[in-house]
Amino acid sequence: MKNKDKDMNEIINHLKTFGFVFQSSEIYGGLSNTWDYGPLGILLINNIKKNWWKKFITLESKNVGFDSKVILNSKVWQSSGHLQNFADPLIENKINNKRYRADHIYEEITKQNSSSLTDQELEKWIKENVKEYDNSKTDWTEIKHFNLMFKTAQGVVEQTKNQLYLRPETAQGIFINFNNVQRAMRLKLPFGIGQIGKSFRNEVTPGNFIFRTREFEQMELEYFTFPNDDENAYKYYVEKSKNFILDLGINKESIRLRIHSEDELAHYAKATTDIEFEFPFGWGELMGIANRTDFDLKAHNKFSDIELKYFDQESNQTIIPYVIEPSVGVDRLMLAIIVDSFCIEQIDQKDSRIIMKLDYKLCPYKVCVLPLVKAQSLQSKKIMEYLNENDIETNFDESGSIGKRYRRQDAIGTFWCITYDYDSDIDNSVTIRNRDTMKQERIKIDQIIDYINKNSNTK
Ligand code: GAP
Repeated sequence: MKNKDKDMNEIINHLKTFGFVFQSSEIYGGLSNTWDYGPLGILLINNIKKNWWKKFITLESKNVGFDSKVILNSKVWQSSGHLQNFADPLIENKINNKRYRADHIYEEITKQNSSSLTDQELEKWIKENVKEYDNSKTDWTEIKHFNLMFKTAQGVVEQTKNQLYLRPETAQGIFINFNNVQRAMRLKLPFGIGQIGKSFRNEVTPGNFIFRTREFEQMELEYFTFPNDDENAYKYYVEKSKNFILDLGINKESIRLRIHSEDELAHYAKATTDIEFEFPFGWGELMGIANRTDFDLKAHNKFSDIELKYFDQESNQTIIPYVIEPSVGVDRLMLAIIVDSFCIEQIDQKDSRIIMKLDYKLCPYKVCVLPLVKAQSLQSKKIMEYLNENDIETNFDESGSIGKRYRRQDAIGTFWCITYDYDSDIDNSVTIRNRDTMKQERIKIDQIIDYINKNSNTK
């Protein structure tokens, strides 16, 4: 089944039923577009992050990790341009008192990009062409720009409060620490600094489940390079990012690359490629790779007392490095992985099953151990503990028929089910079943780990 034919509501219900994602603050009526991650959701997220860290930090010997704070000195956002430029064009319909992104209305109706239009042109077009919208007649206001940064304050005494902001991207925390990290780690250009962390944007129109939320997590790498090598590095990270997505098991038909046109580029970017994914609600940006040039380091150099720069001993010159930035949202990537792996399979004329065909390395549980009868629970739990001790995330399920337990594990993506039965005590063997093929094999208990390592098809 293609992603566009999948039913988003069915997926959302599935994720709630099986403990992946819950409506946040549900007992108080919820908080719009806010979602909490359940026990299986957090296992999946941890596996996604582990893979990003491995690909972008551990396996890239020139890259290092970092963790900066959500709340930074406000001057960071003045220097970076976020206070002036990080705003969306907002238009209000006075009849239903709802606010919308003007660019989204235009793009939804015309299926064309709005980036070449000025606010006046966009407003004129909407006023002339959109007489009904969102099940309401319309009477549009003029377009206003709405800054997406959440405001907050620090300190207990009201008068001493400073205006502070929750970060809208993790990147700036890295830029302002460029000198610290480079010197402490004695890094030579080119090198990257990456981090995983929460970002906040007061989005005008959040929605599509966890696709666009106001609180989300980003995985960002800032790769600093020589100014004359920026294009090579950019190409390298576009290709690497695409392979990272495919290695997570996402089908290649579900993604496409889109190069930003000049008038669409963010205020800091010379070039940007988006990796888009086909969601049930249409194609959307999954990951962006931007050539940020020396914009950010220069901006901080202009406004701060300390100069962020690199001394190249070979050329005996001081350089302001260029930055290539692959950036992806954890929540959005999780949604893409879930949508892509979610399928309903007809087993025979009467029976069907839901499976999350997750790549082995992402499965919340790689294995579930099932005692045939409750009397075998102790032996089964020993196998579970043994596998968990060997870093193979394993679960245990003793309730219901074996058939029902298999279905439950298929539905949460568990790659292997191991059944401990009456013969197991005698022959020291168990039956192992593959999630996708449903084929079963009898193997010795002391060979389970070898078997799993050999037969789990991970990319
Ligand atoms: N530092 C560059 C930057 O933040 P971006 O394109 O605004 O660039 C990067 O965001 C990625 O973060 C996006 O590709 C998307 O995966 C994720 N993202 C952005 N806004 C989001 C939101 N409101 N909800 C969930 N994910 C979001």
